[in-house]
Amino acid sequence: MTGSLVILTGAGISAESGLGTFRDPDGLWAKFDWQALATPEAFAAQPGRVHEFYNARRGNLAAARPHAAHEALARLERDWLARGGDFLLVTQNVDDLHEQAGSQRLIHMHGELKKMRCLGCHSVMEAPLGLGTDTACPRCSQPGFLRPNVVWFGEIPLEMDVIFQALETCTHFAAIGTSGTVYPAAGFSQVAGQAGARLTEINLAETETSPQFHERVSGPASEAVPRWVERILAQT
Ligand code: OAD
Repeated sequence: MTGSLVILTGAGISAESGLGTFRDPDGLWAKFDWQALATPEAFAAQPGRVHEFYNARRGNLAAARPHAAHEALARLERDWLARGGDFLLVTQNVDDLHEQAGSQRLIHMHGELKKMRCLGCHSVMEAPLGLGTDTACPRCSQPGFLRPNVVWFGEIPLEMDVIFQALETCTHFAAIGTSGTVYPAAGFSQVAGQAGARLTEINLAETETSPQFHERVSGPASEAVPRWVERILAQT
């Protein structure tokens, strides 16, 4: 009996691919002011500066490749579904390393760095490496209406209804490489716990939500996740 598995990933799973986390001592929010870069107000006040920040991150992502943890989760999805189980991977990450590794049942609750959205015609499209205030929308031709298709502080994360439905019926929940400080994702373990799911946390360090989990796997994601995937597949 496999059951229904929901996995939440955060920046820690992409750290070993060369993409920075947010709250570690060398993290993005230690170097940059999120209020000036990751809010709708910041974009309204200084769109050029916000584009510059996301263009630099898009540039970093172009060189990044998935590692053993991303690959293990793609394998887990294939094997779990083949055994008749249900599976959903929810990522807070705006990178596309899960897709590159082959994950398919995937929700980007904080959006996608490689996409842009037009505030004029609402189209979501592939973003160029250098998105700017003068870039014209390929669909409606208006310049000045394109924004990175990421969720900023103060905005509602994407596909929350699908995510909560999966959490409320899951039998296993795992949080991987996330500090558990940003809601609503930080509350997912509690919802899954109330549904009776077995809760696993995989992280380099303890987090604020660690006490809620039944099981903790410590270590870098590239080692800890493949080990855990082997184990969970052997048990089911
Ligand atoms: P954080 O930077 O808050 O947390 C990263 C977590 O990854 C920490 O708990 C680290 O201990 C852990 N970690 C670091 N390296 C690791 C490794 N190699 N293996 C395993 N774990 C490792 O990142 P998130 O929790 O993803 O939102 O942050 C959540 C949200 O806050 C982001 O999606 C972003 C940010 O502001 C928005 O921009 C809206």
